[in-house]
Amino acid sequence: MSTWANLGLQDSASPLMEQLIFFHDHALLILVMITVLVGYLMFMLFFNNYVNRFLLHGQLIEMIWTILPAIILLFIALPSLRLLYLLDEINEPSVTLKSIGHQWYWSYEYSDFNNIEFDSYMIPTNELTNDGFRLLDVDNRIVLPMNSQIRILVTAADVIHSWTIPALGVKVDGTPGRLNQTNFFINRPGLFYGQCSEICGANHSFMPIVIESVPVNYFIKWIS
Ligand code: CUA
Repeated sequence: MSTWANLGLQDSASPLMEQLIFFHDHALLILVMITVLVGYLMFMLFFNNYVNRFLLHGQLIEMIWTILPAIILLFIALPSLRLLYLLDEINEPSVTLKSIGHQWYWSYEYSDFNNIEFDSYMIPTNELTNDGFRLLDVDNRIVLPMNSQIRILVTAADVIHSWTIPALGVKVDGTPGRLNQTNFFINRPGLFYGQCSEICGANHSFMPIVIESVPVNYFIKWIS
């Protein structure tokens, strides 16, 4: 989860989030190089001594400053496309979790296991224990096995919600009348916090998501 003064991305807990962080750093590096170059050129305009006042055309430089940015954009576009398709890939999931957004809580269904279903409400601040996280903890956590492919189906019952877990690189809209799908793989045990990220009404800020990632045998114990 995010803690005080954490301005960057959270540590990844899934291979897809790791790739997203790599891509972010890659794109940021290109952005910095372009900003420095353009900044330098703009700064140097102040010291123009008009040596090229009668210059009317320059075929070569026009060619270079048209093609070069196009090539640089390719270096962002191709890894971006790769990541887009990686995020969309469903890789033989061993567990499917269905998540339904309501105003203002999430409900979950484990369709593979006798259709276990439960609601997950945020714990109000006045009921919080000392080890609880304010506006982030819920009464019923999602329990999922680590080191397994997990499919998540997201929908909503009233308005659009968004099921978002930053550490896992998952962000899927729950739309009434539609069923959205994505998948993830948690590579360590622990608690992973998320929040709804579609502005869904007055209590939008108060429908967090908590995943409890446990070893597979613990998960089997929990589910049975
Ligand atoms: Cu549900 Cu915002």
